[in-house]
Amino acid sequence: MSATSAARSNPAAVLSGVGGRLPLRKVGNDELADRLDTDDIWIRTRTGIRSRHLAAPEEATSDLAVEAGRRALANSGADTADAVIVATTTPDRTCPATAPLVASRLGLTGAAAFDVGAVCTGFVYALAAGAGLITSRVVTSVMVIGADVYSRIVDPEDRQNAVVFGDGAGAVVLRAGHASEAGAIGPFDLGSDGAHEDMITVAAGGSRQSADPRQTSRAERHFAMRGKEVYRHAVTRMVGSARTVLDQAGLGIADIDRFVPHQANLRILRTVADDLGLPADRCATHVETAGNTGAASIPLALADSHAKRALRPGDRVLLTAFGGGLTWGSCLLTWPALPPVAEPSHHGEESTP
Ligand code: UT7
Repeated sequence: MSATSAARSNPAAVLSGVGGRLPLRKVGNDELADRLDTDDIWIRTRTGIRSRHLAAPEEATSDLAVEAGRRALANSGADTADAVIVATTTPDRTCPATAPLVASRLGLTGAAAFDVGAVCTGFVYALAAGAGLITSRVVTSVMVIGADVYSRIVDPEDRQNAVVFGDGAGAVVLRAGHASEAGAIGPFDLGSDGAHEDMITVAAGGSRQSADPRQTSRAERHFAMRGKEVYRHAVTRMVGSARTVLDQAGLGIADIDRFVPHQANLRILRTVADDLGLPADRCATHVETAGNTGAASIPLALADSHAKRALRPGDRVLLTAFGGGLTWGSCLLTWPALPPVAEPSHHGEESTP
């Protein structure tokens, strides 16, 4: 059977394009220290973060998602996708989903479009959903975007979270192909533990609790995280999920060329890599200059690594994420040969439609 006929009868999902977009405004640690009770040394030693990008007041999640999606589509050489999935915790509006607007602004009106909510694990969940749409032959191409504007839900006066989070979007394009091709995605490991839903929350504004300022406190209307406990769960779950997916594939950590974890905190990434027995130089890090960008962090790290040629065709790549819910997930893929792409912080010829 030829690769083409195999792709038609028993398709695998193959990554065929990547792109990322950070907002123009870069905010260094010293700028935050000017207005918060914090300092550059604390932020760098506790998180590894030197700067992050924050969206302009009029810039919403869909604006960043459209730019990342446009770059990924151009990188893939395709001009269309049958489905658009946006992983986000900060949709433009509570209703409707952000993905249909993103699809239409990308010229993909008519595509299936929906959001995935799995907080910082959202991109891995959305990738699994997109791959599933292809392997079950519902569609033959999918754009998967992770996009978040955490600066809208983090209290700017909250020194713990304001120093950690940044805004951004990253995207990949998947197409139907063959499991033996470079770019082939899978297997996946996905999991959750809702008993700890209160560790990462925005308490008010959903169906449980109104966001009416007369009935809620300022803290309840903003993002809250029990940092130290989350840290411990993040390390345990990321290591466990990475091992599970490696076992499923019959691989060991020595087979991994590039580990691209959710960029929560440099100390977490280093600890997870260490616990897995992975040399630190095989771990992609983007958190130093982007902060924790939620669902955007893995596709942004992929776009950044590809732009800097830190990902080579044929590299075996392990993605692992952890986030609110609690949720976690991992995925394996081989990196395909792709044209160069702009670094996510690059603002050049592209403009928002
Ligand atoms: O993306 C989803 C998953 N997210 C994560 O995995 C994030 C996990 N957690 C973390 O990354 C870390 O817990 C944080 C970076 C959020 C906090 O770092 P930490 O080392 O766990 O600090 P801490 O919360 O234990 O706080 C230590 C001290 C406290 O002071 P006291 O009580 O010891 O006097 C805090 O009040 O540091 C204080 N502190 C700060 N000091 C200066 C907290 N935030 C700051 C700050 N600047 N920005």
